[in-house]
Amino acid sequence: MSQQVILTETVDRVGVIRLNRPDALNALNADLMYAVVEAAEAFQDDPNVMAIVLTGSEKAFAAGADIKEMSEKSYIDMQQSDWFSHWNRLSDIRLPIIAAVNGYALGGGCELAMIADMIIAGPKTKFGQPEINLGVIPGMGGSQRLTRAIGKAKAMDLVLTGRMIGGEEAERAGLVARLVADDEVFDTAMEVGKTIAAKSRPVVMIAKEAVDAAFETTLEQGLLFERRTFHALFALEDQKEGMDAFANKREAQFKDR
Ligand code: CAA
Repeated sequence: MSQQVILTETVDRVGVIRLNRPDALNALNADLMYAVVEAAEAFQDDPNVMAIVLTGSEKAFAAGADIKEMSEKSYIDMQQSDWFSHWNRLSDIRLPIIAAVNGYALGGGCELAMIADMIIAGPKTKFGQPEINLGVIPGMGGSQRLTRAIGKAKAMDLVLTGRMIGGEEAERAGLVARLVADDEVFDTAMEVGKTIAAKSRPVVMIAKEAVDAAFETTLEQGLLFERRTFHALFALEDQKEGMDAFANKREAQFKDR
C-alpha cells in the first residue's frame, strides 16, 4: 500500500493534520491537497473537534506545490482544472486552523500556512515565495494573503527576489503569531488549540468569521457586522453561562449552544 500523504488524530478536542511526504519535503501534490481538505472537513463535521492543528515535519512544513507534478502541464491544463482552487475549501473551514511550522514553508507551503488562522513558528523556520525562480508567481495566495499580512514593501521583497526569511523576521513582519523555540512549535500549537477547545464552539466560529470579515469589508460594514453579531450572541446559552461564571468567580462550562 502506498504511504499515506497525511496523518490525522484527535487529541483533547483538537484535530491534528500532519503532512506526510517526507521524501518530497511535503510538496503539495493533488493527492495531498484533497487529503488535507477532506480531513479538515471531517474535523469540522465532528462536534467534538474545536480546532485544527496543521503541521509538517521538523525539516519542512511544506516546500511548496509539487513542482514535478506541475512542470509539464500546459496553460489549458491549469486553466481548465483551475489548479489550486480546491484549497479554497480549506479557507471555508469554520474551525480555527493553527499552523505549526518548522523548517521550510516555501511557495505553496507559505501560502498554506497563511490559509491557517495563525502561524506558530520557530527561529529556524524558513518562509518564502520562491516561485519567481521557477518562472512563475505565487498561485495559492502569496501575492494576496502575504501582502495583507506583512504589507506591500516586504511582500514585494519576498515575491520579487524569492529570498527566504527566518522565523524572527517573519514574526517582526506580522506573519507569525507566536515565535517559540523550534522544538516547542507543535506543543505550543496544541496548547493554543486546547485553550480554544475550552470555549464555546459557535462563538469560536463566529469570532473567526468576524476577524476574517475585516479583510473583506469596509470598516463601517465590518463594524456593523461585528456589532450585530455581538448582539446575536445574546441568544446563546453560552453567553449566559460565560457571564454568570464571571459574576460568580467560577470557570465557565460551555455547552456549545
Ligand atoms: N516539489 C517537488 N519536489 C520537491 C519540492 C517541490 N516543491 N521541494 C523539494 N522537493 C523534493 C526534491 O526534488 C528532492 O527530491 P529527490 O530526492 O527525489 O531529488 C527532495 O524533495 C529533497 O529536496 P532537496 O534535495 O532539494 O533538499 P535540500 O535540503 O537540498 O533543499 C529546498 C531544500 C531549499 C526546500 C529545496 O528542495 C527547494 O528549493 N525546493 C523547492 C522550493 C520551491 O521552489 N517551492 C515553490 C514551489 S512552486 C509553488 O509553490 C507554487 C505556488 O504558489 C503554489
